[in-house]
Amino acid sequence: MHPENTTLLYFSPTSTTKTILNEIAKGLDQNVLTVLDITNPDFRAQAAPEFKDSLVLIGAPVYGGRLPKDAADYFKTIRASGSLAVLVVVYGNREFEDALLELKDIAVDGGFVPLAAAAFIGEHSFSNDEFPIALNRPDKDDLEKAFLFGKQIANLLDHVKNPANISPVNVPGNSPYKKSMSMGPFSFITVTNDCDNCGVCITACPKNAIDEADTYATLDNCIFCCACIKACPQHARVIKTSPIKDKAKWLSEEYALRKEPQTFLTAI
Ligand SMILES: Cc1cc2nc3c(=O)[nH]c(=O)nc-3n(C[C@H](O)[C@H](O)[C@H](O)COP(=O)(O)O)c2cc1C
Ligand code: SF4
Ligand code: SF4
Repeated sequence: MHPENTTLLYFSPTSTTKTILNEIAKGLDQNVLTVLDITNPDFRAQAAPEFKDSLVLIGAPVYGGRLPKDAADYFKTIRASGSLAVLVVVYGNREFEDALLELKDIAVDGGFVPLAAAAFIGEHSFSNDEFPIALNRPDKDDLEKAFLFGKQIANLLDHVKNPANISPVNVPGNSPYKKSMSMGPFSFITVTNDCDNCGVCITACPKNAIDEADTYATLDNCIFCCACIKACPQHARVIKTSPIKDKAKWLSEEYALRKEPQTFLTAI
């Protein structure tokens, strides 16, 4: 059974989740009819879609071993009437802990039948030249694994007669989940004189947390995603001495050993 509609739905401030989902979709070789990028706050403000007879690839990064709150809150509003789901979390080479289980629980509550899931690795949001953490990932190997995972899902779909008879895929994680991360608010970005007022950081920010009127300063609703830092063409947004800089140093030292993607398929 191959669903008529395939959708990619993701929250991906620094685009690693987006890259992985696109590669899985290539391996799946279905017609991708819809891309729903919920990174943009204006998009999240709209009513969530309802899915029927669809296949939906849902992706989000791992924040503190959980889903980012903005992504989780949006996912909880989706209704799916037995549509199939592929669930993907992308983490920065530390751990993904309870994020994939949290995503699965939300998907099942919304009416999805999750038949496959995965945890991939992406360059850590806090990574930079001074403190590299999973630098340049996903790389060629990761993308090959994502493509292959897509092919495996396509094979699985060949054997699905009725989604209602599928058991949701088993994924690692603990319930109750790890306590949600609480950080800040505190200031962690300096804007240097290289800023040329291009406004790219404003477009990249998933929280409308940059004040154009005040030298592109960061506001208190910032979620530390670092999208603005990575998007700035002038490299004018710099992580200053702060708990984030300390964390980046610690992560680059403690999690230097490469981790590999993990994939999970339901048994049919
Ligand atoms: C606030 C915050 C918390 C994070 N927590 C974790 C974590 O618990 N484990 C981990 O391995 N990576 C963690 N990361 C790194 C991201 O999961 C990783 O960089 C991911 O690739 C970002 O996805 P994106 O490119 O789609 O935004 C965190 C990043 C941020 C910004
Ligand atoms: S993206 Fe960089 S250069 Fe452009 S306005 Fe923002 S801080 Fe300034
Ligand atoms: S201001 Fe904060 S929330 Fe906005 S892009 Fe930068 S780090 Fe992310």
